[in-house]
Amino acid sequence: MALVGCGSAVPAATITNLDLSARVDTSDEWIRSRTGIGARRVAGPGETVTSLATAAGQAALDHAGWRAEDLDLILLATSSPDDLFGTAPRVQGALGACNAVAFDLTAACSGFLFSLITAAQYIGSAGMRRVLVIGADQLSRWVDWDDRSTCVLFGDGAGAVAVQACPAAENGLLAFRMRSDGSRNGCLTLAQSTQHRPLVAGLSAQVGGFTPIHMNGQEVYKFAVREVPAVLAELLEASGVAAEQLDWLLLHQANQRILDAVAERFAVPNTRVLSNLASYGNTSAATIPLMLDEAVRDGRVRPGHLLASSGFGAGLSWGGALVRWSGPQIDASLPSAVAA
Ligand code: ACO
Repeated sequence: MALVGCGSAVPAATITNLDLSARVDTSDEWIRSRTGIGARRVAGPGETVTSLATAAGQAALDHAGWRAEDLDLILLATSSPDDLFGTAPRVQGALGACNAVAFDLTAACSGFLFSLITAAQYIGSAGMRRVLVIGADQLSRWVDWDDRSTCVLFGDGAGAVAVQACPAAENGLLAFRMRSDGSRNGCLTLAQSTQHRPLVAGLSAQVGGFTPIHMNGQEVYKFAVREVPAVLAELLEASGVAAEQLDWLLLHQANQRILDAVAERFAVPNTRVLSNLASYGNTSAATIPLMLDEAVRDGRVRPGHLLASSGFGAGLSWGGALVRWSGPQIDASLPSAVAA
């Protein structure tokens, strides 16, 4: 498949580190030095996962030069849906993508990467031609704004990438790996509350609802700096690509120190590591496409560029992909020979 368009959307309101230090016992200096984060966007009234994902998706369609009715599939990576029955169909309806099937995929901060890889499977084996892959999260709903260890980290946003079937020579997903380790699930959770209410004599039913994000930051940090380099090293070796051949490292934006550690492991200079943590913090499934869109639009990522990407987070889940950015095709008509 080829990556031919991208888009993104963020809420209007910004909350700075200074704003947060008026609420919890923290400081701009602590947050910047430990995470690289300077501000984050938080959804206000009327801004939802659906509205952000729709805006990002529409921008990606426009960039690719596609009409919504040309889409076969919409994958929405999110861990903070507007509707637990699925938010992707709302996005499909809002876009007017009447010929697309749409469903959610949940894998926390790995969700976008897992969705991109999933899109390739549908293109490769199910005959789908045009797919919109969206990562969108509104974790501000689930953050305990009085817990300084987590509330400084997260923000809201959405990013989208348009991918299409293409001849094998133009394939933009060169290699990938996906991993899960549920034995470490307790490190980072957004779990159902355990509250019950009486139902009939001798029986109670669980009350729906979630407890705020709980994270063992140190464990997640150690996991990330161990597993992300390992999965990327495996990918590079398997595909015979040297780190010097990479144009960009496009990692999940969780912490600048994690980005720096991975870059150091591969001797990739900081100038080739994409980071927008300072503006947006960790937007979960949205970070990778939000960052890609910014870098494509300001001309850093150009057609033909090779990127090593990695998503990681709750699950625990992580993965990596070697990706080549194609950009909008001048002739948007699809070839007859297709490849994943
Ligand atoms: N302001 C000031 N002090 C704070 C803050 C804060 N916002 N938060 C914690 N502290 C304090 C702690 O209470 C502790 O104080 P103590 O020593 O008196 O007990 C001290 O700072 C050090 O705390 P640590 O947790 O050890 O801080 P650390 O250097 O590990 O940084 C952080 C914490 C930034 C969360 C880091 O561990 C991290 O980034 N972890 C990875 C998170 C991540 O990658 N998540 C990705 C997945 S997200 C997803 O999937 C949804």
